[in-house]
Amino acid sequence: MERIIVGGGRRLEGSVQVHGAKNAILKEMVAALLTPGTHRLLDVPRIADVELMGQVLEHIGVVCEFDDRTLTMTTPDEVLPEAPLELVRKMRASIVVLGPLLARTGRASVAFPGGDDLGARPIDMHLSGLEAMGATFELRHGMLEATVDGRLRGADVSLEFPSVGATENLMLAGVLADGATMIHNAAREPEIQDLAAQLVEMGARIEGAGTSTITVHGVEELQAVTHQVVPDRIVAGTFAVAGAITGGDVTIEGCVPDHLRMELRKLEAAGVEVERGSSTVRVVGPERPDPVDFATLPFPGFHTDMQPQMVALLSVASGSSIVTENLYDARFRYVGELMRLGADITVEWQHAVIRGVDRLSGAPVLAPDIRAGAALVLAGLRAEGETTVGDVYHIDRGYEDLVADLASLGADIRRA
Ligand code: EPU
Repeated sequence: MERIIVGGGRRLEGSVQVHGAKNAILKEMVAALLTPGTHRLLDVPRIADVELMGQVLEHIGVVCEFDDRTLTMTTPDEVLPEAPLELVRKMRASIVVLGPLLARTGRASVAFPGGDDLGARPIDMHLSGLEAMGATFELRHGMLEATVDGRLRGADVSLEFPSVGATENLMLAGVLADGATMIHNAAREPEIQDLAAQLVEMGARIEGAGTSTITVHGVEELQAVTHQVVPDRIVAGTFAVAGAITGGDVTIEGCVPDHLRMELRKLEAAGVEVERGSSTVRVVGPERPDPVDFATLPFPGFHTDMQPQMVALLSVASGSSIVTENLYDARFRYVGELMRLGADITVEWQHAVIRGVDRLSGAPVLAPDIRAGAALVLAGLRAEGETTVGDVYHIDRGYEDLVADLASLGADIRRA
């Protein structure tokens, strides 16, 4: 079992580079299902989730090759429209194959995803949206059997909540549908804008990506393209907190500061100096952060995937902070691990009260999910003595080499 061992107390300094965003890449890989040919994604980090989505695509018949952060996917004329349970269990995002497989082949057989580390995570909005476009679903022995009579039809869909995955599934379905699909209350995340950009490069007609109303005009055919992936704002934000929590001076290169609007504002409110360049962010951390309240919300609100890292920072603030989690019902599960390092936190339903302590003290902890795993490493950078983070496979799902990147900034950190 691999672990990350962090010796706390070093101030981080220097620059670190960010690569393509996991949550854009996973859906942009699925877009390769829409048409035969050779598709390429540029600046793809070597992370476990990309490997897993590669396995899903390989099962369907797409050949994936990785070379120096270029991912090449070759889609054949005939595909096998299914995603079995063993793959969906490992890669929950595989549910977005539903839309493009239905658009391309008129049927799909996809295991119904269960809950995961973050909670129940239903997919009702994906299904009702696709139903409005003419698909029918039957749940048979844990498999969702989907069919459409003829071609998917454009429809007017209003999402109950701006779900990232449902918006993407409907966009991926709508590009080859007959007529126009309107998605109301669509998610506005930068990764959705990037997926729309890739689809438009492929020949799709999409308007309004990045706003709450997206219109997709179905086209007859698409072409395979090479797409440059948007930078990973969560990896960038994780490095920003690494600089902040160590009272360091860290520059994050190759990011889009505007994609971290709210997160950087909250860091500033915590006393962190933030300098925004055109594709860089520099953070200079205070000796001790100020307390800050925030609530997670869909973009452009504070991202839930930055919540655990920010809570790690606030755990050593000079007062009490209140954090409200609005996206996931089990996202505070990591708090017990942070308390093993000495954090003083009370969780009631979707709220956490974080009473800042003067010092954290290194201890063995376990990473419960990707972002909480990263947050525990960040807390370890501040804690006195040694922190050992176990279950690092969670962290590997979303960070190419967190240990090497933090070591390059001067952290005392290694993998064992
Ligand atoms: N929801 C429903 N019904 C649906 C769909 C979603 O109730 O049909 C609920 C979910 O249970 C959740 C909320 O709506 O409470 C938001 O879920 P959303 O669909 O927006 O999230 P997702 O597409 O499943 C993506 C990212 C997550 C990120 C969220 C929110 C990928 C692969 N995953 O998930 O990233 O937290 O958007 O921004 O894109 C991570 O990278 O660590 C991660 C968990």
